[in-house]
Amino acid sequence: MSIPAAQGPAIHVQGLEKSYKELHVLRGVDFDVARGSIFALLGSNGAGKTTVVRILATLLKADAGTAGVNGFDVASQAADVRESISLTGQFAAVDEILTGRENLVLIARLRHLKEPGAIADELLRRFSLTEAGSRRVATYSGGMRRRLDISMSLIGNPPVIFLDEPTTGLDPEARIEVWQAIRELAAGGTTVLLTTQYLDEAEQLADRIAILHEGRIIVNGTLAELKALLPPAKVEYIEKQPTLEDVFFAVVGDTTKTK
Ligand SMILES: Nc1ncnc2c1ncn2[C@@H]1O[C@H](COP(=O)(O)OP(=O)(O)OP(=O)(O)O)[C@@H](O)[C@H]1O
Ligand SMILES: [Mg+2]
Repeated sequence: MSIPAAQGPAIHVQGLEKSYKELHVLRGVDFDVARGSIFALLGSNGAGKTTVVRILATLLKADAGTAGVNGFDVASQAADVRESISLTGQFAAVDEILTGRENLVLIARLRHLKEPGAIADELLRRFSLTEAGSRRVATYSGGMRRRLDISMSLIGNPPVIFLDEPTTGLDPEARIEVWQAIRELAAGGTTVLLTTQYLDEAEQLADRIAILHEGRIIVNGTLAELKALLPPAKVEYIEKQPTLEDVFFAVVGDTTKTK
């Protein structure tokens, strides 16, 4: 029996296992994601983050265990799960030949929505792409592409969105812009599951952080809970050097803070 869509966690994962031949990637993964929260799945290269996301997005079948999204079972109610989600993959899935606006209109049409033009314009505005909207995506920077990619995944207002490494390869300014976009999503009630290799990204964004290691979730908690796992802080007197990020923003000017 499935849990009604409006109750229970947005994502429920229990005992998930997946092997590729002899490689046991997932060995019993368990976690829940509360509605409207941001959940970060951390792990190094090859830990199985994309595998988890692909199972939740019904693109891949698990060998064992159960997974539910928006109250629907990924195995037996795949169509309902697909209606409830959007997935922004690890590599941007935008059409280079089209303009930003045309990409958005295309997706809105494919989803049979009314007024695709108005939907496109609103998303361009939300993601600060109005001026770039009439340019071909081939001319966009990596950050603009990512923002367009994320905005495309919001068409139709899915209650749950998966972002697989949303900021990998972006410069510090573009990362902060994408973070801002993700925060706005969660503030609007969307549940966000993101994967990342960056500890600072999880620290900045996530309500809960889980670490996937050797096929299992080895830690799952709030940032404060994770920090409490470490021994108490020692007081040391050191000369504080600026971080490379401090230097970067001092030199180029922090454009994100003036918006
Ligand atoms: N279709 C496949 N066939 C065989 N092995 C695969 C397949 N897909 C993934 N793998 C292996 O499974 C492991 C987990 O891959 P996955 O892509 O889930 O990792 P990830 O945590 O997303 O890594 P990254 O941070 O590099 O994106 C890796 O060792 C990968 O090589
Ligand atoms: Mg991956």
